[in-house]
Amino acid sequence: MIQGSGWSDAENSIFLVGEHQRSVLYTHGMKQIAQWMLLGALIASMCGCTGSGVRRATTDSDTFRVAAVAADHPVASDAGAHMLALGGNAVDAAVAASFTLSVVRPYSCGIGGGGFMVIRLDDDPAHGSVRVAINYREVSPYAPDYYERTGLSSTTGGSAVAIPGTVRGLLFALDRFGTLGRETVLAPAIEAAENGFVVDKHYTSTSSALIEQFAGDTLMQQRHPLVWEHFLDRGEVRVGDRITNPGQRRALQLIAKMGDEAMTTGPIGRAIVDAVNNAGGQITQDDLGLGEVQVLEPVAGVIAGKEFVSMPPPSSGGVTMIECLKILEAYGYNFDIPWHLETNSGVRQQRALVLVEAMKHAFADRSRYLADAAFVDVPIDELLHEENIARMASRIDGGVHEPSYYGTSGVLPTDGGTSHVSVVDQWGGAVAMTETINLGFGSLVGVDEYGFVLNNEMDDFTTARGKPNAFGLVQSDRNLPAVGKRPLSSMSPTIVLDSDGQVFAVAGASGGPRIITATIQVLLNAMGSMNAEDAVSAGRIHHQWLPDTLRVEQSSAEMTGHRGELVDAIGNAQLILRDPDAAGWQACSDPRKGGRPAGIDK
Ligand code: GLY
Repeated sequence: MIQGSGWSDAENSIFLVGEHQRSVLYTHGMKQIAQWMLLGALIASMCGCTGSGVRRATTDSDTFRVAAVAADHPVASDAGAHMLALGGNAVDAAVAASFTLSVVRPYSCGIGGGGFMVIRLDDDPAHGSVRVAINYREVSPYAPDYYERTGLSSTTGGSAVAIPGTVRGLLFALDRFGTLGRETVLAPAIEAAENGFVVDKHYTSTSSALIEQFAGDTLMQQRHPLVWEHFLDRGEVRVGDRITNPGQRRALQLIAKMGDEAMTTGPIGRAIVDAVNNAGGQITQDDLGLGEVQVLEPVAGVIAGKEFVSMPPPSSGGVTMIECLKILEAYGYNFDIPWHLETNSGVRQQRALVLVEAMKHAFADRSRYLADAAFVDVPIDELLHEENIARMASRIDGGVHEPSYYGTSGVLPTDGGTSHVSVVDQWGGAVAMTETINLGFGSLVGVDEYGFVLNNEMDDFTTARGKPNAFGLVQSDRNLPAVGKRPLSSMSPTIVLDSDGQVFAVAGASGGPRIITATIQVLLNAMGSMNAEDAVSAGRIHHQWLPDTLRVEQSSAEMTGHRGELVDAIGNAQLILRDPDAAGWQACSDPRKGGRPAGIDK
């Protein structure tokens, strides 16, 4: 539901907690007095009645003395920071930010999708030390030959939808590693759905190609009314419009009341099955129970004295990033100076060539070897073995080679359907969380009565052997779908620790395979002593082995030997960085997407 125009961005930051929300919370009951007190403080702080201690950056970056959240939408950063101000930890903040993103970035992530969370708590008052990777990625309801047999689409419509995992994952993480109640962490999201959020430039630029597609296709308009009529306002959506979402408010209230059951055997679950099957998919209510949340050991590697702690398979993000960085280290790359497109052109060219070659090796292995480790053998130790890394580094010889040269053995869509949040709490605990519905507005299939769209994560599988997916990624048979299997992801939520074990940086990005290369470059810049704002803003490059094309953000593609392509944005990254002067945490939400961080100072 879009209301008028002309709301200022500042208004986007204000949560108004109304009678309705209060009555919902009363109705569903709050068991503990402590929860009441926390909720009272939340309501008061959101109303601006008391100083909550939450401060939102007025630009895309700022330094916060105690704790910070960097999401790709200001309202989501605020939601997380409110949890921190209530005494919640980084997990509470990440969960609140994620539910809020479901409302305010409906094309990027949400309750119709899935995601990953890397958690590292240290001296947390409730949980002590924790170091885990939580996998709540969507799962396939279909067999390996589903697309070849049916000829159905893996990008649009019911056949593209994988079983969502976000709600199950968030509630699991909250229960196991958080401290606040369900009602508390859901309150900001319910509020955002009730009062609406203001459309920003990223929203309209992400929507413009889709509007063009919808405009000439009345059948498409009729098939996807939630996306066309509600989210795109029949092609009329403008910066400054306010979008409320009574349907998703009802869904979030049901989740607050019933937990994940609402999404499986409950009313939202029934609506999901109907929406998918009416749009050409074939799922049952039982399928919604597929996809247990997994607690995994993060993939880790020490590079230049810092430990990178990241997401293991079914993400390719952690392995590919660590492989790329280890190749750079073996090559003799100087990590003390930042990598970015603005450096002196001779230096840039030389360092860029090395970086691109390392990317190509790592992405070749991504393509050949990585998939869901619960279904196929993924040789992580072999890929990251010192000798293998040294061999690939030795093949960086100043030349540019055919694709078969790279790895252990051999027109991208615009960013839309993924979102990353970085959090650091007052105890130094950190969460890196990346979530997705894959492409912008996912499968376009709306669960209309509950105001959210379902993912098209099935396209991250190898749906046709040897053929590239929507991101141009060519993947192996290891990544064929199977019932209960998770598609290979590029999401790279990463926590970097100093040699003393303290958090140095929390990072990750959105943008399909560009997630990996954006996260690498942001972290290379941070290691080279750039501040968070510069590290994120600096120009980036991207090479994913196949297609054999080097993407650059600026017209500086004098990198000889590569087929170059100028692109608007290579990923959208959110970074939190320990301030070198011990003044707290530098936090930056990527200016490419328009988020702003928020945090607390005491
Ligand atoms: N759907 C984007 C990813 O998981 O890589």
